Amino acid sequence: MIAAIKQAAVDRFPLTISGIHGLAHWERVLENGVYLAKHSGGDVLICSLFAFLHDCCRESEGSDPEHGARAAEFAKTLRGGILKLEDERFELLRYACEHHEKGRLSEDPTIGACWDADRLDLGRVGRRPNRRFLSTERARRSSVIDWGYRRSRGHPAKLKG
Ligand SMILES: [Fe+2]
Repeated sequence: MIAAIKQAAVDRFPLTISGIHGLAHWERVLENGVYLAKHSGGDVLICSLFAFLHDCCRESEGSDPEHGARAAEFAKTLRGGILKLEDERFELLRYACEHHEKGRLSEDPTIGACWDADRLDLGRVGRRPNRRFLSTERARRSSVIDWGYRRSRGHPAKLKG
């Protein structure tokens, strides 16, 4: 299912796929999200789907308000087809996509992992992640922020533990 969603997101994306909100970013958000969900007790599949869907309806590389809402709407259109999720899990994905751009925190282990996964990749736009805007305990660790930041700047990085 993830491969089909990834392809649908690539097909939907109206901007340059090699750009700052494109595929390389989605792949790092996937790696971040899987790691964080395993530690937060979040839903790894939802974090994986979020990685490919959350930015795929952007219409600009700038702030582009409402691109989260458009991603949530796009996810709805995939439901029942290539996106097969029970109501409760779909709602997590929908909510995470819709609100990811609003700078909020979440105590939900899945939604928090999704948003942190995205924010750990802020180095690609020259911003170091701020732990005050990270929801999960694991993402707030200096070693994890460094891991995300280095990768987001194009440097290889390994995380121990
Ligand atoms: Fe993103």
